[in-house]
Amino acid sequence: MSLAVHDRLKVVPLTRRIGAEILGVDITQALDAAERDAIERALLEHQVIFFRDQPFELESQKAFGRLFGALHVHPGAPGPEGHPEILRIHADAQSRHVAGEAWHSDVSCDLAPPLGSILHLHTVPASGGDTLFASMYAAYDALSDRFKALLEGLTATHDGEHDVYRGRYRHLGANDAGRSYPRASHPVVRTHPATGRKALFVNPGFTTHIDGLPRAESDALLAFLHAHSQKPDFQVRFRWRPHSVAFWDNRCVQHLAIWDYFPDVRSGHRVTIQGDRPF
Ligand code: SIN
Repeated sequence: MSLAVHDRLKVVPLTRRIGAEILGVDITQALDAAERDAIERALLEHQVIFFRDQPFELESQKAFGRLFGALHVHPGAPGPEGHPEILRIHADAQSRHVAGEAWHSDVSCDLAPPLGSILHLHTVPASGGDTLFASMYAAYDALSDRFKALLEGLTATHDGEHDVYRGRYRHLGANDAGRSYPRASHPVVRTHPATGRKALFVNPGFTTHIDGLPRAESDALLAFLHAHSQKPDFQVRFRWRPHSVAFWDNRCVQHLAIWDYFPDVRSGHRVTIQGDRPF
């Protein structure tokens, strides 16, 4: 199915629950208001949207991101010289980690976690290196009413310190001795500020515990929610090509970068859009 939302711009859903490819628009150039609004509508409906053949420069990628909000500066990773809002995503034969190896919503440890992220890869391995995206609306909707009632009012702690950021960006020149990383408590079920839909908002990357529960109960509840959220039924899998772009809504999507291409190179840049405090 393909839906024309503008003279040339088309939105092609990839699954019924999450993901769409956007055709007929050059996002490396200035967009008119109708194109920008059509892209925002597609993001809100499909939660992650994909573009092909968009050879962004750092400035044009930042300009595209700014159409949707102020840009976020990563709490741990320094951007390239003169571009603090750019996060380099890179893996090669020397890599010991890659960004996004655990399911997560970007920087959910921030008090106001990012609205969305826009990743452009200019170099991709011959095979592998896909990214999985999962709809946290679909994960929430699939729970029973009794279970939804149990989650109502719970909050969870998200922490950037534990095994996420500490020491992770040494190869980019970051020295994090003596500094601390963000930590925040957010509702386990958040309401999307633009769509009003409810989404699960705990993830294995950042969430350390459910607040106010004994450790064993918190661990068991998180283990269930993580396994549930990772069901293939809620996912779309994106196969990258050089100069593909993915734009995801961190308020209702988790993602996982699959590192199955070592020692090959996969490289590009992400801009991240500031968000609001979850409620
Ligand atoms: C990330 O932003 O978490 C990385 C995603 C990816 O490399 O596919």
